Amino acid sequence: MKIRVFDTPREAGIYVAALAEQVIESKNHPVLGLATGTTPIPFYQSVVQLHQCGLRLSDTITINLDEYVGLPASHPHSYHYFMQEQLFSKTDIKPGNIFIPQGDAKNLDEECERYDEIIQTHPIDLQILGIGLNGHIGFNEPDDLLLSKTHIVNLRDKTIASNARFFDKTADVPKQAITMGVQAILQAERIVFMAFGRTKAAIVAEAVKENVRTEVPASVLQLHRNVTMVLDRECACALPELNGRCENG
Ligand code: GLP
Repeated sequence: MKIRVFDTPREAGIYVAALAEQVIESKNHPVLGLATGTTPIPFYQSVVQLHQCGLRLSDTITINLDEYVGLPASHPHSYHYFMQEQLFSKTDIKPGNIFIPQGDAKNLDEECERYDEIIQTHPIDLQILGIGLNGHIGFNEPDDLLLSKTHIVNLRDKTIASNARFFDKTADVPKQAITMGVQAILQAERIVFMAFGRTKAAIVAEAVKENVRTEVPASVLQLHRNVTMVLDRECACALPELNGRCENG
């Protein structure tokens, strides 16, 4: 696992956007696996800037990790809406090349199957990941088992509490989500895992601690041969091997 530590999330976002540009420029139909949350926002801002400087995204295919169950694409707290706001409406990515699970699908089991077919048809070249405070990736929550395929998940209390900041009140946070499984994530050619800030430091340290544990879903990334961990100094502090590079020296 490669680790890169930046002074600020903004600098980290520029770095990850440059990695994405390499992938976009090297393939006829590049496939980016995309994440939501606060963490990837500086990355999306940098991709938009690159687009304004001439980077074409018209042949890029994007596959998002997850969506809340029950929220239509038009809902301001849906991940569809987030992606439109942050990236899609500001670039030339074609609507037909955008894939996000339909949280308001009538038949959610069929939607999970449909999504797995999409992932198999478009193998992901570069997967962008954040991490939840409980170690989830996508919405693969801590559990006895980590599911391989796209599935419906009951969100953990910690996730609901953490994501309540985006909603008017905790009761408004959906209790379920549809998420890509860990197989699709691990099948990506390359993974860039981003985490910023002191609040993420402890769980990032857990994720890289030896051995894969289903109670820390992000620890499965240890099984992948090409993961780059992109951190800021505050977040890197809890990693013993980064002593010299963390915020307090
Ligand atoms: C959500 C998403 C995850 C994301 C996590 C962290 O739960 N499903 O993909 O990594 O939030 O969000 P943030 O970056 O806002 O801390």
